[in-house]
Amino acid sequence: MDTVTDLQTRALAEISASDSLQQLDELRVRYLGKKGEITAQLKSLGSMEPDQRRSFGQAVNAVRDALNQAINARRKALETEALEQKLLSEKVDVTLPGRGEQRGGLHPVTMAMERAISIFTRLGFDVATGPEVEDDHYNFESLNFPPHHPARAMHDTFYFGDGRLLRTHTSPVQIRVMEKSDPPYRIIAPGKVYRSDSDQTHTPMFHQVEGLLVGRNVSMADLKGVLHTFVNAFFERSLAVRFRPSYFPFTEPSAEVDIGWEKGDGSESGWLEILGCGMVHPNVLRGCGVDPEEFTGYAFGMGVERMAMLRYGVTDLRQFFENDLEFLRQFH
Ligand code: PHE
Repeated sequence: MDTVTDLQTRALAEISASDSLQQLDELRVRYLGKKGEITAQLKSLGSMEPDQRRSFGQAVNAVRDALNQAINARRKALETEALEQKLLSEKVDVTLPGRGEQRGGLHPVTMAMERAISIFTRLGFDVATGPEVEDDHYNFESLNFPPHHPARAMHDTFYFGDGRLLRTHTSPVQIRVMEKSDPPYRIIAPGKVYRSDSDQTHTPMFHQVEGLLVGRNVSMADLKGVLHTFVNAFFERSLAVRFRPSYFPFTEPSAEVDIGWEKGDGSESGWLEILGCGMVHPNVLRGCGVDPEEFTGYAFGMGVERMAMLRYGVTDLRQFFENDLEFLRQFH
């Protein structure tokens, strides 16, 4: 009997001193498990006298119940403690200040492009698009470039070697629009173009906005009127515009357009070329199934980077493509 009482005192002390669930479970196995000390006491009952067995049995069972109860109570306490620890360590301080919001912005070339699109759509033009990977037919042949014409060489074309190429201008979109439907046409085609050319004023990829208007009695005077209106709207001031005779296989007559740019902001002054244009060549119209006796039209193609440099006072073209945030943030 004394052994059993001692055992209870010792076990209860150990249970209340245990400070982890693992330690508690080890105690449970040691006292109440199959090979545990209480179990051993119960096994010894068999060799006892009947009345001794009865009172001893009751005593051992009482100890077993007491230990079970103590272990369960201790387990609950330890579990609660562990949960509280966890909640404490995972606590989020919602009163901490935030990290702050960084605002993004549009790239200056995108801004110039969207500005051009918005002005031309207000003038009644629709936006058309075409693929950047083209072939000889769309980039040259249908635009009246004869097979060995030197103007092809001037385009510094990237060829894939299988007949495909990267478009060197947005003019192929003119053909795609005219092939698809009947005149009149009044579209602009903004997009990327590619030329194997890289120096201070040329990048292998740049942007153009193409324009095409075909209808009855369309004249060069209409072209001049629209372009002058556009230029004044784009730069928000009244600028001088000059048409200089030029050559493109797909327009006749052809011109390059310069704007009169004053000094003052560090940029160049004098006449600056911003686009090429002309009256759509009869061969081009005919090739697309449009009768040049019935319809005439004009086309133009403008360099967007050039327009962006002038409007935002950027002096080096390459800055547009260096992804320097210090530079880009200025335009937000
Ligand atoms: N496609 C010509 C170029 O890239 C520009 C142009 C377009 C000229 C339309 C005339 C008419 O140089």
